[in-house]
Amino acid sequence: MHQAEYSQRREALMAKIGKGSAVFRSAPMAVMHNDVEYTFRQDSDFYYLTGFNEPEAVAVLAPHHEEHRFVLFVQPKDLEKETWAGYRIGVEAAKERFGADIVYPIAELDEKLPQYLEKADRIYYRLGRDKGFNETLLKHWQKLLAVYPKKGMGPTAIEDPAPVLHPMRQVKTAAELELMRIAASIAVDAHNRAREFARSGRYEYEVQAEIEHTFRLQGAIGPAYPSIVASGANACVLHYTENTCQLQDGDLLLIDAGCAYEYYNSDITRTFPVSGKFTAEQKAIYEIVLEAQLRAIAQVHPGNPYSQIHDTAVRVIVEGLLDLGLLQGNIDEIIKEEKYKPFYMHRTGHWLGLDVHDVGVYQHGETPHNLEPGQVTTIEPGIYISPYLKPVEGQPDIDPRWHGIGVRIEDDVLVTSTGSEILTAGVPKAIYL
Ligand code: GLY
Ligand code: MN
Ligand code: MN
Repeated sequence: MHQAEYSQRREALMAKIGKGSAVFRSAPMAVMHNDVEYTFRQDSDFYYLTGFNEPEAVAVLAPHHEEHRFVLFVQPKDLEKETWAGYRIGVEAAKERFGADIVYPIAELDEKLPQYLEKADRIYYRLGRDKGFNETLLKHWQKLLAVYPKKGMGPTAIEDPAPVLHPMRQVKTAAELELMRIAASIAVDAHNRAREFARSGRYEYEVQAEIEHTFRLQGAIGPAYPSIVASGANACVLHYTENTCQLQDGDLLLIDAGCAYEYYNSDITRTFPVSGKFTAEQKAIYEIVLEAQLRAIAQVHPGNPYSQIHDTAVRVIVEGLLDLGLLQGNIDEIIKEEKYKPFYMHRTGHWLGLDVHDVGVYQHGETPHNLEPGQVTTIEPGIYISPYLKPVEGQPDIDPRWHGIGVRIEDDVLVTSTGSEILTAGVPKAIYL
């Protein structure tokens, strides 16, 4: 991503925060076990505004400051530490490469930060997972509050930046979409390869390996989330990630896998028969989910309420389950009382972007959130008939021939000015028999 893009984002945010100062903390290092750490993954807000990809950093936006509107605090160069933990950009190079007006070593935070807060009317900061940094920020704020009566100036509130920043992240720019298309295209290739590879006798983890091999081979950072390769009744566990079972003819295989490419994510699910041929029951369920997905995608149009996507999918699923005799009663009542939930317990989609479950609201209180061009959502209806399904009063007992069928179909859909574009259309989902 070009530096100009980050600069534009910062300018857009600064225009919105007026007399405030915004403070963003890099993500903490996460411990995997003992003293082994996970690969560092930058905080998405931090990354969105800076492109800076190291821990132990702080970014400050102070639109009212005379000299330094964009300030970075970073880890200084330290050859000994870098020998162990990887190269650091350092104070000098960070100024050049990331376009900051000034860069300080992180150790100078306490000394330098107050000058960027003291003239602000509020501090935009999300109290987050880094408890130590929350304390640091509150300490600075309290000191400024203490001198407020004398100065008659200073921040009198801490405000969450999300309501100003996240609507920006929710609408993707051309440069972001370029990365999302690459993430989508790599995941498309991975799914198509997995489908070729999957057959009776293979293990779920072998299919997973094919998928993740494709991710890395094509330059993705890796999986966007733990890949789900769920055969048979494993598909009824929404976040099944053990991936240890052997594929059997007669089973369906549900694969939910996507990748992160330069921090932008894709998220695809496909379900297909291991043998290539559906049983009558599998086919009946698959057809309902496919119809629900296609009808839900057809709702993606600028101006349409987000909730219409889910409502449409739910109605198609309930109609289908009523037709099959797996639900009984009045359709509106079943929907209102959510009696379909034993079969369909999750939402039909989520925003997608720098986070897999990306930021942005779905509803504004009682007012719907209407779709806008540039927003990207997944559309992922499913039906799951767990063998452990509990009987529901007033609803039919489920014949065991339906047990263990789990189907989900998921695509990544961009809202365009005229409708929608399916970024992940390259993985087949029609039934070929
Ligand atoms: N695999 C995560 C999701 O579909 O939301
Ligand atoms: Mn998803
Ligand atoms: Mn998914």
